Amino acid sequence: MKPIRKAVLPVAGLGTRILPAAKTTPKNLLNVYDRPILSHVVEEGRAAGIEHFVFIVGRGQSAIEDYFDHAFELETQLEAKGRTDLLTQVRGELSTPGEMSFVRQMAPLGLGHAVWCARDIIGDEPFAVMLPDMLMDAAPGALSQVIDAYRAVGGNVVAVEPAPPGEAHKYGIVALGDAAPGFDGRLAAMTGMEEKPAPGAEPSNLFISGRYVLQPAIFALLAAQAAGAGGEIQLTDAMVRLMATDGFHALRYAGTTYDCGDKLGLLRANVAYALKDADGGVRAVLREMLEAYTDPR
Ligand code: UTP
Repeated sequence: MKPIRKAVLPVAGLGTRILPAAKTTPKNLLNVYDRPILSHVVEEGRAAGIEHFVFIVGRGQSAIEDYFDHAFELETQLEAKGRTDLLTQVRGELSTPGEMSFVRQMAPLGLGHAVWCARDIIGDEPFAVMLPDMLMDAAPGALSQVIDAYRAVGGNVVAVEPAPPGEAHKYGIVALGDAAPGFDGRLAAMTGMEEKPAPGAEPSNLFISGRYVLQPAIFALLAAQAAGAGGEIQLTDAMVRLMATDGFHALRYAGTTYDCGDKLGLLRANVAYALKDADGGVRAVLREMLEAYTDPR
């Protein structure tokens, strides 16, 4: 079984749900408590053993590349002022040489098209996909859990979780067969998948939540994939076709997902990550604010 060494991080979407914030700032550089969403996600990838990150970026997103590079002027100033604490923090965000590639998706044709743009860099090996606007708070990390499941069953594995009541039709939803041994019954063979099923016709309430291990055979299918839901080339549609020849499993990963591509999801993530900082006095601040708040309606 080949190890998972590379991860594709598609960040070229328009981020319409979080406009106008995402107009000039790539949404994955928006902050969750103390650092950008992407920093949390790359940390999760490194902890899962990812050696190479392939970002699929759009126009106007060069700030992402810059974020993981030296900021020469800033670092020089911090050094001159003796701010070694901040310098360590800033340098802690650097990539290692050769660890990251950036590929332009020249038009946001859909998640499937974005992943296909990574085909030459991934080559002929299984790889991970991490949707960076899905911040998955888990220990061990969500991708580590998915890769553990892959080591047990091989093939293709996706993380899933229950959609909020009444919202399953907004997501890629899976249908499940028998549970695989181990994993407390949380790993099961998949029998079907559907992107944004009609309300009331969802095969389950479990949605594909943003971490995948895929076989490279997906690229040939994506190359010929017609546009699906929303007029976009959908990764789920190509995965359905791959399922005809390849094993797929779904893992109900243990953890909490925050959809940071949504205003309320981003707020939730900020509060949750801030509350984890025992020294930050966040509880007191929140309590104070809630007590002082009067609803203007
Ligand atoms: P989303 O649909 O959640 O992101 O795609 P979006 O399109 O940016 O957001 P909305 O719906 O307009 O608010 C899932 C992931 O796939 C990437 C997005 O950047 C996001 O990380 N994506 C999507 C691409 O890289 N390219 C695309 O053409 C579409």
